[in-house]
Amino acid sequence: MFDRCGIIGFTGDCDAKDILLGGLRTLEYRGYDSAGIAFFSEGKIKTIKTVGKVDCLCDKVATEVEDATTCGIGHTRWATHGGVTDTNSHPHTFGNVTLIHNGIIENYQELANELAKEGKKPVSQTDTEIAAMVIDSEYEGEPYEAIKKACDRLDGAYGFCIMFADRPGEIYSIRNGSPLVATYAPETGAIIASDMVALISYSKDYFVLPEQKIAKLTKEGIVVTDLSGAPFEPEMLHVNWDVAAARKDGYEYFMLKEIHEQPQALMKTITPRIVDDLPDFTTDGIGDDIFAGIDRVVIVGCGTAMHAGLVGKAMIEKLAGVLTSVEIASEFRYANPILSDKTLVIAISQSGETADTLAAIRLAKEKNAKTLSVVNVKGSTIARESDYVLYTHAGPEIAVASTKAYTVQLAAMYLIAFRMAYINKTVSDEAIKGLIKCLRRVPKDVEKMLKYDAQIENISNILNKAENLFFIGRGLDYALSCEGSIKLKEISYIHSEAYAAGELKHGTISLITDNIPVIAIATQNHVYGKTISNVKEVRSRGANVILITNEGVSVDPALCDHQITLPRMDDRFAPFSAAVVLQFIAYYASVHRGLNVDQPRNLAKSVTVE
Ligand code: G6P
Repeated sequence: MFDRCGIIGFTGDCDAKDILLGGLRTLEYRGYDSAGIAFFSEGKIKTIKTVGKVDCLCDKVATEVEDATTCGIGHTRWATHGGVTDTNSHPHTFGNVTLIHNGIIENYQELANELAKEGKKPVSQTDTEIAAMVIDSEYEGEPYEAIKKACDRLDGAYGFCIMFADRPGEIYSIRNGSPLVATYAPETGAIIASDMVALISYSKDYFVLPEQKIAKLTKEGIVVTDLSGAPFEPEMLHVNWDVAAARKDGYEYFMLKEIHEQPQALMKTITPRIVDDLPDFTTDGIGDDIFAGIDRVVIVGCGTAMHAGLVGKAMIEKLAGVLTSVEIASEFRYANPILSDKTLVIAISQSGETADTLAAIRLAKEKNAKTLSVVNVKGSTIARESDYVLYTHAGPEIAVASTKAYTVQLAAMYLIAFRMAYINKTVSDEAIKGLIKCLRRVPKDVEKMLKYDAQIENISNILNKAENLFFIGRGLDYALSCEGSIKLKEISYIHSEAYAAGELKHGTISLITDNIPVIAIATQNHVYGKTISNVKEVRSRGANVILITNEGVSVDPALCDHQITLPRMDDRFAPFSAAVVLQFIAYYASVHRGLNVDQPRNLAKSVTVE
């Protein structure tokens, strides 16, 4: 089940409607099938909600609401429990309680049965309305008490913003799993949301609401307490990006903008970790003890993050000589993995909130393994729960399809491999310095790749009528194939498979017939000839081939329909450049089909429940 909602709450001196609707636009990437707001108006709570995008909600608000309001909550939804209807849209009200929710209440049916015995029936099919009913049933004029008692009864993931009808101007929030960040800006007011992108217009300083703590927002400020009401001081964090990062800035889609942001993101991620031409994590506070005495590395992640792990594994094994495996986090957590205090578990996650990856880290700690996370969002749960964290500096990634977050994850994994090799003395210091030199060049290499945009737009026409296609490659190129395939599938809806090129003959080649597109990646010198043999095999069975190679290799023109040549570089660094090619291919395949590139169907940017 997925968590695909964006929530926001505001109370202060400005018109809450503007702040809520503006915030929902920035959060729309988290859910986009219906939206709603609720606010205090003349002492009463008024709710406006509708199926459709935030734009539809804005139209409805513009025609139906004239009065200004200073306190309200807003939600953008992607349906999980209950279909896409106005009634199922949030906010949900029951009795005194009006609620928005991000997450899943797992025991909602059981709770609904209990409530039915008291003669209480919901009007929607949502688990959220059941949560509102539970909170209301515990409410006797004391919000803290009601929230505490209700949360004792709720199982599952939630981020809530709650308004009580008899407490105008106040918003109460609590979370379990689902993210919530908050800030107080004296000129504006108190604001809480699922993501910093909704807060950045008001402040660069914020805090992550810790789990099972209650935030009370009023126009005077935000008070955080534990469930017993004792005050709690949350740690303040600061972001180093600004409001422009959360806007499209003239690009048609966020994905295209984010592809173009890669040189900067890579520079920010790589540069601070190089001291005297050697990899150095001192400013990250990552001590070498985490790498010392390790006999095995296990990398966990989901989706694109897991694919970054595949590249990380190759680099760690090749350079540091430590046995490394890559595990899909949702499998790892139930597989009773063999771990010890000599195992280093590295979690890779853009959001730092993915439920399966978080569970993997918790399990690793339970089994005494050392934990290190590679995370993009500061203060996120995975970052906080790992022994150490290496932050990537991609800035906010809004498009559901991950691009810049992936390449910075690669950079982080290279740095980790280099540091491990340095500590283990498996590679000479001179050789490490050589690798660092190449890594420093990566932002420039990627910048050059951005100029391939038009060429790839043109080549991607070959995919216009495709229903199935294959990505093939060996070694690092296979890891890249996995990423290229998921990128294409998620935003163009073309079915594709990534195959280790040498494995084709064991089944898949039977699917290669006339005009099936095959995207072959052949950047790895030591297996180049082998991959080319596999390209010949598919070509002779009629495939339309797009071949990605390094500059300087001579390719028989009969072997492919299109060749894309990457600028000359050490082939261990080719994944960065190849990634850009694959991102453009997916992007243009989606654009050519007239699809919504940034908001593909059924997908969520951040999946915080199982
Ligand atoms: C979702 C996103 C993917 C992402 C994966 C892991 O499925 O759609 O793009 O790779 O989650 O997310 P994380 O935030 O943990 O990197």
